[in-house]
Amino acid sequence: MGVEICVEGLTKSFGHQVIWQDVSLTLPAGEVSVMLGPSGTGKSVFLKTLVGLLKPERGSIKIAGQDITKLRERDLYEVRKLFGVLFQDGALFGSMSLYDNIAFPLREHTRKPESEVRRIVLEKMDMVGLIGAEDKLPGEISGGMRKRAGLARALVLDPEIILFDEPDSGLDPVRVAYLNQLIVDLNAQIDATFLIVTHDIASARLVPDNIGLLFRRELVMFGPREDLLTSDEPVVRQFLNGRMQGPIGMAEEKDAAQVEQELADLGNGAGQNAGEESTTAMTPRLLPSPGVTRPPRWQAIAEREVETRRKAEPHGEGEPPDQAEPPQKTEPQGEAESPRKKGEEVADA
Ligand SMILES: Nc1ncnc2c1ncn2[C@@H]1O[C@H](COP(=O)(O)OP(=O)(O)OP(=O)(O)O)[C@@H](O)[C@H]1O
Ligand SMILES: [Mg+2]
Repeated sequence: MGVEICVEGLTKSFGHQVIWQDVSLTLPAGEVSVMLGPSGTGKSVFLKTLVGLLKPERGSIKIAGQDITKLRERDLYEVRKLFGVLFQDGALFGSMSLYDNIAFPLREHTRKPESEVRRIVLEKMDMVGLIGAEDKLPGEISGGMRKRAGLARALVLDPEIILFDEPDSGLDPVRVAYLNQLIVDLNAQIDATFLIVTHDIASARLVPDNIGLLFRRELVMFGPREDLLTSDEPVVRQFLNGRMQGPIGMAEEKDAAQVEQELADLGNGAGQNAGEESTTAMTPRLLPSPGVTRPPRWQAIAEREVETRRKAEPHGEGEPPDQAEPPQKTEPQGEAESPRKKGEEVADA
């Protein structure tokens, strides 16, 4: 069962450079949250701060009620065992085989016999499609394979909190689809608390319970997925649509007059690509694969989504609830059906 992480008034700087300030959010126990934000806004720094690798100047991070910013190194070591982390660069040991890399946390933190280590390592390698690559060194495989090895390593200790920094970068679109399904299934099975940093907007729309957005040294918004997807906040809309028009510029902030003109043009339909999806469209969430039991909170979340859709509809009717509610399947579910196929059906519904 995952644990809640409660962040309050968190500020992080390097020298005179403030990365973000006064960040407050709660990652609800057992839910999946996604953190978005332009490059350089401090998403990776945020993850490292949550694990206690970086010290914030102000604020608190309460995990199971304990403020980890106040802990000594020895106590932090204990708290870190709750976490499974995939760093942005994968952080594999270059001179160790993939097998040994993935076995490393088990050998370091547990006294499991090698036979048990082997069972767990192969199970996780299978999960991320790396069976057969056990003896390869990180330097001998593709970037996407390294990423998946990092994912397997993050999962071997059955963590209660899972932090993934861009798990999907460098993966081809089909593998991203499998990865999204894997995250949803894992979350349903182990009920860990997830925080995922991604630049993949399609995944951000499909997978999480909650979405946050960092921009200009602040957490612009953090909340239930449907609140952000239907939000009119210009930064949120621009980011979720991957548009050039809006407050986010290539390098720095844009000047206010330019932003105003661009947003006005967008309002007139100019500057918008034909058929471009609006952020106020609610994408149905990705459901766990057939046979994976859904935790009870799924029902509440489904109801919340139906309600948001109803409110977002100008004429009050909204879509029929059965479109958004996870279908309560009673018929036997075929083992042979691929998880992705199921995911696609739901996502495209
Ligand atoms: N150890 C460090 N010392 C000094 N500055 C740092 C350190 N780590 C990160 N920074 C700075 O913090 C800022 C945020 O970096 P971070 O890597 O968190 O961005 P990000 O949002 O993850 O970007 P991306 O999407 O490109 O991964 C950058 O300006 C970076 O140079
Ligand atoms: Mg980063």
